[in-house]
Amino acid sequence: MIDELERLWGERRSRRAFYPDPIDRATLTKLFAAAQHAPSWCNVQPWRVAITEPPKTVALADSIIAAAKSGLPHSEVPFPLDYPTPYKELRVACGVALYKAMGIARDDKAGRYDAWLRNYAFFGAPHVAIVSCDRRLGPYVYVDVGVWLGYLVTAAASLGIDTCPMASVAAYPDRLRAELPIAETDVILFGIALGRADLAGPANACRTTREPVEANVTFCS
Ligand SMILES: Cc1cc2nc3c(=O)[nH]c(=O)nc-3n(C[C@H](O)[C@H](O)[C@H](O)COP(=O)(O)O)c2cc1C
Repeated sequence: MIDELERLWGERRSRRAFYPDPIDRATLTKLFAAAQHAPSWCNVQPWRVAITEPPKTVALADSIIAAAKSGLPHSEVPFPLDYPTPYKELRVACGVALYKAMGIARDDKAGRYDAWLRNYAFFGAPHVAIVSCDRRLGPYVYVDVGVWLGYLVTAAASLGIDTCPMASVAAYPDRLRAELPIAETDVILFGIALGRADLAGPANACRTTREPVEANVTFCS
């Protein structure tokens, strides 16, 4: 079982080029129903998900692209302002891998801008899930929603559905709220692009690495 899970996790990647063909409602329902098994503190199951289907996905993308071109990002949960060591180096390596896959040079400002903007087209995916939770529960429940995200991307991989979690789309909450039924009492956390990846898309050649377990886990006896 662990071997099978590790193989699935090892093969899963964030995908950043998708075919436009939608996934049928029954399969999407099966996926989100599977992720409902995620544990949460006091079993409050705080994740709230609004998922688009065509033509809503493109309508939402158009709205957010317009906002991204003209407005300043203002996520409801603050993004990190600074990445101290060792996070800075890991973040840089992640960016280098992605831009290298896309063939975008470090000083290619226009290329970088276009690549950034592709976040807001959800990388061409037919679906985007916008994930929020009730702000009255406070930030601790973000942990629960993160656990759910792990379940969701794992379940998607097992169904052959490709994903890309996206903090970027949370930067324009007004547009999300105008287009989707997101409760006033909720705080928007992130989006998830879903669909079938176009493996010929250059961004999908991106490979990230992981630190050895010793970097993250300390055994204390
Ligand atoms: C909460 C979260 C937010 C993310 N936001 C973005 C994003 O806005 N844009 C993007 O291209 N990738 C985003 N990613 C994908 C990460 O860059 C990716 O998970 C990481 O580089 C590891 O690569 P892998 O998913 O292919 O293993 C996000 C991932 C997570 C978990």
